[in-house]
Amino acid sequence: MEFKELGRSGVKIPVLGMGTWGIGGLSTRSEARDEEAIEALRLGLELGMRFVDTAEMYGRGHSEEVVAKAVRDEREDVFIATKVSAEHLSGDRVLKACASSLKRLQTSYIDLYQVHWPNPRIPISETMKAMERLVGEGRVRHIGVSNFSVQQTREAQEALSRTRLASNQVEYSLLNRSIENGLLSYCEKERITIIAYSPLAQGDISRTGRGERWRMLDQVASKYGRTRIQTALNWLIIKNPVVAIPKAGSLKHVRENVGGVGWKLSPEEEQALNQAFK
Ligand SMILES: NC(=O)c1ccc[n+]([C@@H]2O[C@H](COP(=O)([O-])OP(=O)(O)OC[C@H]3O[C@@H](n4cnc5c(N)ncnc54)[C@H](OP(=O)(O)O)[C@@H]3O)[C@@H](O)[C@H]2O)c1
Repeated sequence: MEFKELGRSGVKIPVLGMGTWGIGGLSTRSEARDEEAIEALRLGLELGMRFVDTAEMYGRGHSEEVVAKAVRDEREDVFIATKVSAEHLSGDRVLKACASSLKRLQTSYIDLYQVHWPNPRIPISETMKAMERLVGEGRVRHIGVSNFSVQQTREAQEALSRTRLASNQVEYSLLNRSIENGLLSYCEKERITIIAYSPLAQGDISRTGRGERWRMLDQVASKYGRTRIQTALNWLIIKNPVVAIPKAGSLKHVRENVGGVGWKLSPEEEQALNQAFK
């Protein structure tokens, strides 16, 4: 595995982590595929993707419970990121939501606690004050946001008095490059890690495809003996501030995804893909 510094924290995290949307259910709780999910997460940990992203809202909290089971016995060696929902951003609710996440995750601390979506009805200063209190109490190690624009990211950073904003988790893939219109360069300049979600465009990278852009992707992939998925992940993580969190529910997919690291597209190939997927 390769590692990058999380923000300016001095802490290194794997460039590929594992997403968990759909594990433990979607917007409702489901235990139907827990065993399979735990097996997939454990394989990912074994292969070096020791960074798991979840959220209090995934499966109404059950995703966090599944993550807890998957990391049992090795919690200290896994970087766990979770998220507080937009409707829980008032000070007291942040504290309550964190306590519930800690309970479900069966841990005494969260490595990265992220604001899932901005909520214009609650001042970010109130949310960040509660987040910093959690850091002071040792319940949270690092603070991040998700789905924040440049302006919102700046405001979140400015609302922190004792710590720096570590990350912004946003959608980013070959098929969705909207963060290249300012957010990516802002985060690079400020040394805020971009955690790329839906890095496989929810599987579309492997599904779609004929035409020039896909031919280009296949051509580059085959030069390295890699797949489209692995090449699309590599295209993300070769960018300075970016790490990615593909979600995989099967062992086959976990094995394929981890092959996104350990090699490197050349700048020319990156450019060619930029052009093809404009
Ligand atoms: N902050 C936010 O607002 C936000 C929003 C969306 C997502 N996220 C986070 O980001 C994570 C990743 O995003 P995502 O789940 O939306 O999408 P994704 O990772 O781009 O794609 C996941 C889909 O791709 C499939 N897949 C995985 N590996 C594959 C492979 N090697 N070959 C073919 N298909 C493959 C998965 O199927 P299987 O499950 O069958 O393997 C799943 O259907 C989420 O799980 C979540 O943790 C955050």
